[in-house]
Amino acid sequence: MTAQAGICAEPNLHAYYLMFDILPGCQPAVRSALAEVPSLWRELAQSYPDAAFSGLVAVGDRAWDTLYPRARPAGLVPFPAQQQGKRTAPETPFDLFFQLRADRLDVAYIAVQRVMALLAGQAELKYERQGFRYLDCRDLTGFVDGTENPQGEHRAEVALLAEGPFAGGSHVHVQHYRHNLVKWQRMSVTSQEDVYGRTKAGNIEYESEQKPSTAHTKRTSLKDEAGNSMEILRQSMPWGSASEQGLVFISCCNTPLHFTRMLDNMFQADPAGHFDHLTLFTQAETGSAFFAPAQEWLERQGE
Ligand code: HEM
Repeated sequence: MTAQAGICAEPNLHAYYLMFDILPGCQPAVRSALAEVPSLWRELAQSYPDAAFSGLVAVGDRAWDTLYPRARPAGLVPFPAQQQGKRTAPETPFDLFFQLRADRLDVAYIAVQRVMALLAGQAELKYERQGFRYLDCRDLTGFVDGTENPQGEHRAEVALLAEGPFAGGSHVHVQHYRHNLVKWQRMSVTSQEDVYGRTKAGNIEYESEQKPSTAHTKRTSLKDEAGNSMEILRQSMPWGSASEQGLVFISCCNTPLHFTRMLDNMFQADPAGHFDHLTLFTQAETGSAFFAPAQEWLERQGE
């Protein structure tokens, strides 16, 4: 089974993110359209070899049964929303998610136009955002994002289902975060570093005993009952206009459980009252759960 290239892609310079809802009665047409997506991904990658294009389409938890009633990936459930006073991670379901990435903005934009043409009259565009690489892969808070991501072949081990009818597919969680940079920039660099548990300029991880219990990297490094690391592959990128900015957070994993446990640990306080202090400086405005099937699986459903 061939995974869609966008799941394990190495970081790019540019991205477009699109989310759609399927129009009433258009499920058969959308099913046929999605069967053509893998050949669109191949065509774009081959036409612009210098652009390192990768595409990804994923189907939302609510839309899945209306498109593909015969089989459903285990664990495809609604986005695990969080609410702790003002700190919230809402659920905002969408039917389809597209991640279009390239090292050339024009090529990513061509991909947007092709996807829009493919779904014209069948689905309504509900969300669009452009993502970009900031400096050496930093988030707009100024910290390098992605350092502890799985590397090399381990990316596929973490992100892709290895066996079963959905082998080569991935559970995808997407959140649109808006940062409060005014509040963030009022803090000293040392206080900012404590929020992540890493240094800012040099991107060095704090020693374990030096990491506050509220540090983002402490709250999201989790182990299961057997002592194995619970990993995800993050494909997030910054977004921004002159007046507002944030992160499109994207998690790809062979199980939805790791993301769910991490988000829980970021928002819910432990018995000592500690939660992830990053959630004091950025607000999630969307949260959606999707499954990105393997290319052959998508193609077969159009037959
Ligand atoms: C680590 C930024 C949301 C999971 C990091 C790091 C940064 C960062 C700068 C440290 C470097 C690295 O290893 O990548 C952000 C920002 C977020 C955000 C700006 C939101 C605006 C999330 C969410 C999750 C998550 C929602 C999962 C639910 C992780 C994990 C690590 C990490 C697993 C690696 C921890 C480790 O092993 O050290 N993040 N993150 N992040 N983040 Fe986030």
